[in-house]
Amino acid sequence: MTAYKTTMIKIDSATKTFRNNGASQLALSGVSFAVQAGERVALLGSSGSGKSTLIRAICGLEILDAGSGELLLNQKVVQSNGNLSKNIRQVRNHIGVIFQQFNLVGQLDVISNVLIGLCPHKNILQLLMRKFSDEEKAKALDALDKVGLIDIAYQRASTLSGGQQQRVAIARALVRDTKVILADEPVASLDPESSRKVMDTLVGLCEKFDLTLIASLHQLSIAKKYCQRTIALNAGKLYFDGATASLDAASIACLYGSVNNDLHD
Ligand SMILES: Nc1ncnc2c1ncn2[C@@H]1O[C@H](COP(=O)(O)OP(=O)(O)O)[C@@H](O)[C@H]1O
Ligand SMILES: [Mg+2]
Repeated sequence: MTAYKTTMIKIDSATKTFRNNGASQLALSGVSFAVQAGERVALLGSSGSGKSTLIRAICGLEILDAGSGELLLNQKVVQSNGNLSKNIRQVRNHIGVIFQQFNLVGQLDVISNVLIGLCPHKNILQLLMRKFSDEEKAKALDALDKVGLIDIAYQRASTLSGGQQQRVAIARALVRDTKVILADEPVASLDPESSRKVMDTLVGLCEKFDLTLIASLHQLSIAKKYCQRTIALNAGKLYFDGATASLDAASIACLYGSVNNDLHD
């Protein structure tokens, strides 16, 4: 029997133009694809190809141009024809985002940084005034347990190594009713050993909890090890969408040009 999979992310003709002082920059151009629940997708492309813009569009932080089709997550509209859904907060409850620079509040302890994930709409001042319930704290501790950091829950975030900070960020991304993790260059600031540990943690949790992952990456070897599928962008256009294993040297050379400073094997 074929396992039934639901479509978790569906993007139809995503186009994004940035306008600054009269100059316009086309960051995404007619990008369409669908990702099934539980898939792990590497997002490749040289610097400026549109990876971050695409990730930000999926979580509704970037509004696509009018004329773009629907962008759906878990069958719910994130945005459509240049308009953000009125229900974006509910949709965002299913999305955890991880960034290259971890984005932790260094002065706060680890558990507080994870609790921030429970109320993504509040600013830091509101968060500092907020009392978290025992149930919320238990959820944060559970998320820290999942990333192997429960022992340092009350340590200041600034005292952690880069790899540990990124694992706290993974816990913060997981603490909600998360179905999708969007990771923008999650290991670009880490040494090889920390990168491996962070990717093992991230992908292990995605497998265990059947989460969908889109991760932009700079290293083809990491994409090949952790993501069965790759979507590649070239100057804002969909350049490749298929099995990571089938990416050959020729398509990589085409994608990054002959001088490849962006991608490492
Ligand atoms: N806020 C912005 N204002 C103007 N141009 C932007 C903005 N964000 C991104 N861009 C441009 O859009 C293109 C795609 O950028 P980005 O999505 O950051 O690419 P990547 O993440 O692949 O490096 C680039 O040309 C970049 O300069
Ligand atoms: Mg980027």
